[in-house]
Order: sequence, then structure tokens, then C-alpha cells
Amino acid sequence: MTSTLLSFEKSTPGKRGWFLPKSEVPSFNPAQSLSPDLLRKSPLGFPELAEIDIVRHYTNLSSLNHGVDNGFYPLGSCTMKYNPKINEDLASLPEVKVSHPLWPEESCQGHLALLFELEQALSEITGMDYFTLQPAAGAHGELTAMLIIQSYLKERGEKQRTKVLVPVSAHGTNPASAAMAGFETIGVNCDTEGLVDLDHLKSLLNSEIAALMLTNPNTLGLFEKNIKSIADLVHQNGSLLYYDGANLNAILGLTRPGDMGFDLVHLNLHKTFSTPHGGGGPGAGPVGVKSFLSDFLPVPVLESKSGIYSWNYDRPLTIGKMLGFYGNYSVLIKALAYIYALGTEGLAQASQDAILNANYLRAELSNFFHIPYNRNCMHEFILSAVNLKAHGIRALDVAKRLIDFGYHPPTIYFPLIVEEAMMIEPTETESKETLDRFLKTLIQISEEAKSDPELLTSAPHRMSVSRVDETLAARTPRLTWTPS
Ligand SMILES: Cc1ncc(COP(=O)(O)O)c(C=O)c1O
Repeated sequence: MTSTLLSFEKSTPGKRGWFLPKSEVPSFNPAQSLSPDLLRKSPLGFPELAEIDIVRHYTNLSSLNHGVDNGFYPLGSCTMKYNPKINEDLASLPEVKVSHPLWPEESCQGHLALLFELEQALSEITGMDYFTLQPAAGAHGELTAMLIIQSYLKERGEKQRTKVLVPVSAHGTNPASAAMAGFETIGVNCDTEGLVDLDHLKSLLNSEIAALMLTNPNTLGLFEKNIKSIADLVHQNGSLLYYDGANLNAILGLTRPGDMGFDLVHLNLHKTFSTPHGGGGPGAGPVGVKSFLSDFLPVPVLESKSGIYSWNYDRPLTIGKMLGFYGNYSVLIKALAYIYALGTEGLAQASQDAILNANYLRAELSNFFHIPYNRNCMHEFILSAVNLKAHGIRALDVAKRLIDFGYHPPTIYFPLIVEEAMMIEPTETESKETLDRFLKTLIQISEEAKSDPELLTSAPHRMSVSRVDETLAARTPRLTWTPS
């Protein structure tokens, strides 16, 4: 395969865009080329400020930001763990930074080798056969997987499978991705233990069901111990089982979705594998599949023949492209560096420590908050502020009061099936001292809720902005800058 850049060079040397000598670049005078009514009558009116004022403004603004580098960040479902800075350094190496997706394959074999190694490492970790590194986020990976399922079913002549099952506790992106791919979604109930209700699942399975989307551990932080029975039920029905890998941080090196019976997975490299999560990216949501689905992977597919790497676009059953090029390269490099640095034992240790930290907090908090599913959890657990309702306190108030103590609040009101939910994920990178300080604070807040509820309802007290109308901001966002 020849890249576009290479063919430019070969076919028209020196005669294309950025290769032209300056003297040959055609001049462009807007005053002559545009009709007068399109020309601006007055200067643009940008704000004019001295450089020092801009520097101070942004420096101050950055210090208002809470990140995992300046405080505990137990944001459930998001895996806000500390990511070793050395991986950032590796992703910033000149060789990585200057790489360009239009480079001819023969001049970037080392880069392709790294991507290939990452695909293999992720296959090994998840028990899948093939991976694509293309998707740029978890939800993007979900959509990719849904499109793969759809193409596979179409190829089998099973177009009538138009429905996807999603547990009622699922992350909102699951039903959204299935719907974007054109599927109808149906909720599967939880049983009293917080797990998939097997009887309800059985009652929903029929010839119209394309797949079940599941995360394990689920969004309550509980391991779906009936996963083998679930996989059997789904497969006996001719449907596929999809793994939302956002919670992989709980099972690294301990068990694998492929061994549990999942047919395809997405991973959130920006959670589990050393890329900071948040702020809208950049992330990576690679998708892994069992071999019977590999023909449907997005193009191009990275291949290795006799030690030479190349991109294969000639894949008649592919779902097409999911991203402009091959994935977020710097995020992929960080993931590979992290996997190599920790190794098999280190990855398993990370998950074990994440589980230990979550269970420590859960057990210590059970006397102060309602814990709806109070038994051994995986890497996260759900508290409920429902016991504070009598004092006029909601989960939101507890979350806002935590900010006064320098903590990022936990995820609140998710999963939707728990009233006044607060979802806590401490991650493996926090020390016992940090967890103990956090415990002390939450216990103090639970006492304040009863003795001085106003302290919570008016929190946070030390922020430059206190409570904002989030509904108004979401419904009527002001997205433009208006000069004063
Ligand atoms: C359980 C679960 N699934 C899917 C996603 C979607 O991932 P992303 O935010 O990368 O699109 C998330 C994100 O937090 C999640 O927690």
C-alpha cells in the first residue's frame, strides 16, 4: 500500500502544496479577490491584553482545577488513578511526537511494531483473538462493536435481530451506542443481589435479540457471578455477548472476558491503562473480538508478515473506518508502556489493590451510610445518602461538602437504580493514609448532616463558584464569547 504523501512525491515532484518553493506559491490578496461587501469594515475586536495578564489568568485558572495530581479523586466508574509520569515522557519522545499517519509504512515499521504488540497484549489480557485500536473513546468502542455485531448478523442472514438487551444499571453510553447503531434497546432487571435477573433475562431472549451488553463487575461494583450461565443463555439464543470494559481495572490478570464467554469487548485505555481520564479526551477505546468476528473489524487492519508490518484495507466484510487514521497514537504508547512496566504480576496486583481499597472504605462506612448491596465488592461500591433524607440532605449536598475538604466528589445519582447513589472508586494508587483521611471526612459530613444540615446544603464554601444551576447550563448553554 502506498500512502497519499508518497504518491504525491512520486507522481508530481515539487508541484504539490507544501513542497512548492516559496517563489512559486501563488499570491492571494483578499482585497482584490473578494467582493467588497464580503470585506470586513472594522477590526475584529479581539480583547487586547498584556502577555503577563494572560499568563496569570491561565495559571490561576489551572490552580482552580482539581486533578488526581493534587487530590483524591474517587469518581466511581471513571478509574481516576494516578498515572506514572514516565509514560507521559515516553509518549512525548521526539520519535513518537513527530510521527505522522501519512508516513509510508516502510519508514515507520517501529511504530507499527508497537501498535501490533499492543494489540497482542490486549488480546492476551482480555482473552480475545484480534483487536482494533481505532476507536477514540469507550462509547466509540461500543458503537464500533455494535456495528460489528450488526454486520455479522446481516452476513448470517439474521437481519431480524434488531434488539439489544442492556441491564437497567448500565452506563448510559451502552443504550445510546446500541441506538446509534440502529438497534432497539430493552432493559434487563437486577435481582435483589444487584446482579442480572436471570429469570427476566430468559423471558426477554428470543429470535429478535442481537446481543446482551454487560460490564463485569457491573456498575454496582459487583461481580456477575452467574456470568457463565448468562453467556450460555445468550449463545443458546443465537445472540452475542458484549463486554463493556470500562471496569477492567477490577479484573486485570485475575480473569478475562474471553474466558467468561464474551464475544467482543471494548476497553477504556484512558481508565485502566495509564492515560488521565476526563476533559473530553484524548482517549482510546480499542475493540477486541473472537476470531469468528474478525472479518468485520474496521479497516485498515494491521498485519505482520515475516516481520514486516502493513495496513490491510482489502477486507470485503469490514464495517469500514471508525476514525480518520489508526487511533490515538500517544494514548496507545502509554498503554503499552504501562503494560510492560507492570507485567503480568503487576497488573494483577493493581486490580487486587483496587479491590482491597474499595472494600476497606465500604466496610468502614457501613455504619454511617446506607449501603444497598453491602457485601464484598470489586473495585468500587455504592453508598446511598437515603438515610440523610430526613434531615433534608441529598447525595448532591454530601458531594458538594466534600469539595470543602479538597476531595473530588464521587459520582452521584448513578447507577440510576439506587436512590441517592454515591459511587466510590478509590483505585489502587491511593495509600491507606489517604483513605483514612477520606473516611474521617465522610464520617464528619454524615454527622454534620444531622447536626448542621445547612452546612451541607450551602456547600461548597471555599470555591470561587458555589452552586451553579447545572440543569440550566445543560439546557441553555452559552457557547459564544460576547465582548463586553
Ligand atoms: C461503565 C462505563 N461504560 C462506558 C463508558 C464510556 O466511556 P467513555 O467515557 O470513554 O466514552 C463509561 C465512562 O465512564 C463507563 O463508566
